[in-house]
Amino acid sequence: MNTPEDAAPPAVLEAQDVAVHYGGVKAVDGFGLKLEAGRICGILGPNGSGKSTFLAAVTRLVPLTRGRLMLDGEEYHNTPAASLAHRGVARTFQTVRLLPDLTVLENIQLGADLRAGGGGVKQWFRRTAVPEAVEEAIERTGLGAVRSARPGELSYGMARRVEIARALATRPRVLLLDEPTAGMNQAERREVSQLMQKLRDEGLTQLLVEHDVPMMVDTCDRLVAMKSGELVTEGAPAEVVRDPAVQEAYLGKRGRNHA
Ligand SMILES: Nc1ncnc2c1ncn2[C@@H]1O[C@H](COP(=O)(O)OP(=O)(O)O)[C@@H](O)[C@H]1O
Ligand SMILES: [Mg+2]
Repeated sequence: MNTPEDAAPPAVLEAQDVAVHYGGVKAVDGFGLKLEAGRICGILGPNGSGKSTFLAAVTRLVPLTRGRLMLDGEEYHNTPAASLAHRGVARTFQTVRLLPDLTVLENIQLGADLRAGGGGVKQWFRRTAVPEAVEEAIERTGLGAVRSARPGELSYGMARRVEIARALATRPRVLLLDEPTAGMNQAERREVSQLMQKLRDEGLTQLLVEHDVPMMVDTCDRLVAMKSGELVTEGAPAEVVRDPAVQEAYLGKRGRNHA
């Protein structure tokens, strides 16, 4: 009865044998992972290994060629992407996707409206009070001072923070982050890592895609290495980054290019 399996927290989200093929391109080809409750799982892999496509598959933005997706043990691969926010799944994208004519506050508010399932832009134009979830997201991400600014006036690092705040404003149970610190300086990266760890301590289940290996080791409870759409290895972060297959597939290459 008391196997190590039993000791692991339950899987909030699980993907099994996921494949996404674009014609002959096997972007993801039999990859899967479990997101355990209240833990941070990281995906490490070279560019083009299928990380973003996997996130798109899990968030129902691209159709599966094959595979199973489960939330709390229940299959959801027919749930439309728009309904996933109601189920507590939120994500950020690899590139900043903010509405340039809206303020920081309004961009984040759209996130909250998504969860409420309301009329989006129309709904918040009629609203006077700022929802608590929005205030909370602004405070947590340290965006209070720029709440009335437009995205174009922000540094890249700040704009990326707005993306995270918008996802948090949906009050997710599961947060998926695709390279949230790309373009950030070291101090900003550390802040994002600390924010993720704080959210983890409050119980939020997270999936992080990042290239910054030391940050991944510091931030994640578990790492999954991916290459050519497939699993290379998974386990404790320090072990995964020492794995010769990971060193060869990922670290060696980046070591040369990004030393
Ligand atoms: N819409 C698409 N059509 C065709 N090929 C795609 C599409 N999206 C991604 N790919 C290909 O799938 C592979 C994985 O891409 P991606 O998931 O973006 O990798 P990563 O996020 O790990 O850098 C790449 O070879 C990429 O060119
Ligand atoms: Mg990507």
